[in-house]
Amino acid sequence: MRVPLIAGNWKMNTTLREAVELTQKMLRDLDKIKNVDKVLCPPFISLAAIGELIKGTSIKLGAQNVYFEEKGAYTGEISPLMLADLCDFVIIGHSERRQYFNETGEIVNRKIIAALKVGLKPILCIGERLEENEAGRTEEIVTNQLNSSLTEISNITGLTIAYEPVWAIGTGRAATGRQANEAIGLIRHKISKLYGERVAQDLRILYGGSVTADNATEFMQQPEIDGALVGGASLKADQFVSIVRQTSELK
Ligand code: PGA
Repeated sequence: MRVPLIAGNWKMNTTLREAVELTQKMLRDLDKIKNVDKVLCPPFISLAAIGELIKGTSIKLGAQNVYFEEKGAYTGEISPLMLADLCDFVIIGHSERRQYFNETGEIVNRKIIAALKVGLKPILCIGERLEENEAGRTEEIVTNQLNSSLTEISNITGLTIAYEPVWAIGTGRAATGRQANEAIGLIRHKISKLYGERVAQDLRILYGGSVTADNATEFMQQPEIDGALVGGASLKADQFVSIVRQTSELK
């Protein structure tokens, strides 16, 4: 049985003070909800403070990005070693990073290798763009993304995948539960070809893209979907808590 996971990707939102306030608002409610891994992914500068706040609770911390080198002259970057002290998870290959920061499959691959090496759990994001979806190329795109992201990685223990169709991110136009379930089933099938059926059955695959408290149930009812990567709705304490609660009731 896969333990469901709900991660809140706060993106480039919240000052340190706002991040602390948001965490305080949901801390007690989130902590009480069982059978779901709850992960907060605030901006880098808030990780340490929120790490202190959630100490001793069942809530876990994740970063939104990482560089692939361990240390050195890389001004402005944050290394896996620095993060390993602070958090459990790290989002890698989010479509916004691919789009605005030119992250290629090769870079994503190097980041995953670097994260796994220090015991960080990567949440690898993949998903097709609107024009690719409309051209019926979803399978081809996610297969290519999987192949390039996972090159030369023989052991994916600790990895989570988030299927995030780019056209659904931040648009209010979520995929349907059925669409997401189908794409995730396909991803699981690809993983079984690469790593075997057992590994594929143990792997958590999330849906992401305009998940809200109103549509969460539709996704969590789907057998292939193991949770969600939530953007906008994770900035509202009551919405995020509700998504986690619905997940714990349905999974
Ligand atoms: P959204 O973002 O929930 O705001 O669509 C999801 C994501 O980018 O992970």
